[in-house]
Amino acid sequence: MATYPTKRLRRLRYSPLVRDMVRETVLTKNDLIYPLFVVPGKNVKKEVRSMPGVFQMSIDTVVEECKEVEKLGIPAVILFGIPDHKDEVGSGAYDPNGIIQQAVRTIKAEVKKLLVITDVCLCEYTSHGHCGVLHGENILNDETVSLLAKESVSHAEAGADIIAPSDMMDGRVSAIRKALDYKGFSHIPILSYAVKYASGFYGPFRDAAESAPAFGDRRSHQMDIANSDEALREAESDIEEGADMIMVKPAGAYLDIIWRVKEKFGMPTAAYQVSGEYAMIKAAGKNNWIDEERVMIESLIAIKRAGADMILTYFAKEVARYLDKNK
Ligand code: PBG
Repeated sequence: MATYPTKRLRRLRYSPLVRDMVRETVLTKNDLIYPLFVVPGKNVKKEVRSMPGVFQMSIDTVVEECKEVEKLGIPAVILFGIPDHKDEVGSGAYDPNGIIQQAVRTIKAEVKKLLVITDVCLCEYTSHGHCGVLHGENILNDETVSLLAKESVSHAEAGADIIAPSDMMDGRVSAIRKALDYKGFSHIPILSYAVKYASGFYGPFRDAAESAPAFGDRRSHQMDIANSDEALREAESDIEEGADMIMVKPAGAYLDIIWRVKEKFGMPTAAYQVSGEYAMIKAAGKNNWIDEERVMIESLIAIKRAGADMILTYFAKEVARYLDKNK
């Protein structure tokens, strides 16, 4: 094996063209999934306080947004809904005329080249902000799972292309798979939030989705941030239950988990660069403490380098514009 001075690793860094030639990881538009928050009303476009550039939008505005996303060449959006009324059992989540069901129908009718993924959970729809049906202060797993299956079917009936359960209840992937198959949606893939940590990085999302729990937290179902072997068990059970794609969330502080999950299972793997990751980069960028565009790209390249095949990111539109500009 050659050693210095024969071997000089700097040779492959001496010009931009050489660096381009040996680059291992590239970010493309096909990697991007853009999250959108749908609210009731008309002509609504309200910026989320803690997420500059991210808006709550009514269906008409979301449709316009989706047309822009399609034009930018981003292949997919994921929808979150904020209903006009919330109740104990989150009935807005599986109402055939709920906010998401209406949004999906309208988008699918008006925007042709865009995958519409729906987030399946109850937390945006329950009056207490928890991800399931409660008994006292406990979330009932199996009762919740039945409602999630119902929610998934209603999304598929509205025209959703991919179903993405984010609740972290046990057994929900198999229940959703069975329900979808029974109703004639055996062709609709499931992207499961297989490895979702109980993370402080979700803070701004709870402003955006108005889904903060009224009491307690989500530690009885989301994973302990200190665990890594357990992530493999979570991923394995979702794959066994029929998940077509799996997700790790958050992304930036969990690159080791993305790596392990991808190495072990070789599944199509998504990573969610969550609201807090976005908010931190935006805030530091606005203060001119960091070069926002550069850090945005660096954060996403790192996630891909760790093994992610796709990234859910609030930066999707900015990245698409960046890629157009830097072709
Ligand atoms: C639950 C859900 C959450 C996020 C996506 N789906 C919030 C939570 O678990 O509290 C967070 C996404 C983000 O922070 O950007 N429906």
